[in-house]
Amino acid sequence: ITPMRKANDGLELPATGFGTYKVNGLAGVDAVTSAIHQGYRLIDSAFNYENEGVVGRAIRESGVPRDEIIVTSKLPGRHHRHDEALLTIEESICRMGLDYIDLYLIHWPNPSQGQYVEAWEALVEARSRGLVRHIGVSNFLPGHIDLLIRDTGVTPAVNQIELHPYFQQKAQRAYDDAHGIITEAWSPLGRANQMLRDPDLRRIAAKHGISVVQTILRWHLQIGDVAIPKSLNPERQRQNLDLTAFELDDQDMADIAALDNPEGYTFAQNPHWHEEA
Ligand code: A2P
Repeated sequence: ITPMRKANDGLELPATGFGTYKVNGLAGVDAVTSAIHQGYRLIDSAFNYENEGVVGRAIRESGVPRDEIIVTSKLPGRHHRHDEALLTIEESICRMGLDYIDLYLIHWPNPSQGQYVEAWEALVEARSRGLVRHIGVSNFLPGHIDLLIRDTGVTPAVNQIELHPYFQQKAQRAYDDAHGIITEAWSPLGRANQMLRDPDLRRIAAKHGISVVQTILRWHLQIGDVAIPKSLNPERQRQNLDLTAFELDDQDMADIAALDNPEGYTFAQNPHWHEEA
């Protein structure tokens, strides 16, 4: 029943996936296994999360057919060079113990390195070699994506960015929509602690008899992105997928739109200057 999002290259992603940042070790295997059994079919990982082995093991041992699961990993900044990027992708596949990765993203543009176009060419090559099925980016701003398209002619299928009610990324979402790029939301619950106490979100949640987290995730569903909430708790994992029995009305959506604070709340990590190795 989860709606699907479609990208320019035919990729289809469920509107809710499972994030795995800081999901590590054997407890991590249990968490990802439980998420798959709760019904998650999109699992988000990254080379730099140091949990590709955990995610791959949970997928392999889940009993769910491989082709029903979409697994994501991401290229770290220190391996943007063409040959290193391809080797890193091969390493990701080996760590996961899988034959291919469904979706591979450049994790950060790291603009001062000036290598993300070269990295993108490597991802295009990895796709043509069948190492990965779909390719995209993360934390890219419109200017960065413009350059990829100009220099390679290949538009990303996905852009994964920080996105939540306090930081709604309207301009970036409009850009992504215009290019057939699926916008994925990392940190979809924002600074969860603060946002869970937000009086407007609490009022809307109470009105519908749902939790604040469900209110936020239902908002993501209705604005058309893909949210990847993380929870180690199976009951919360289930709750975070249970988003179709209620609907936010126009007034609720307008009230949440008013929580956007692009001047007061800036990026947790602004890709203009934040770079990750
Ligand atoms: P827990 O793992 O104990 O469920 P983010 O993705 O922005 O980092 O937020 C993840 C945090 O939100 C985790 O600490 C997780 O805690 C918490 N969380 C996820 N789903 C829920 C939920 N349905 N209710 C309350 N907290 C949640």
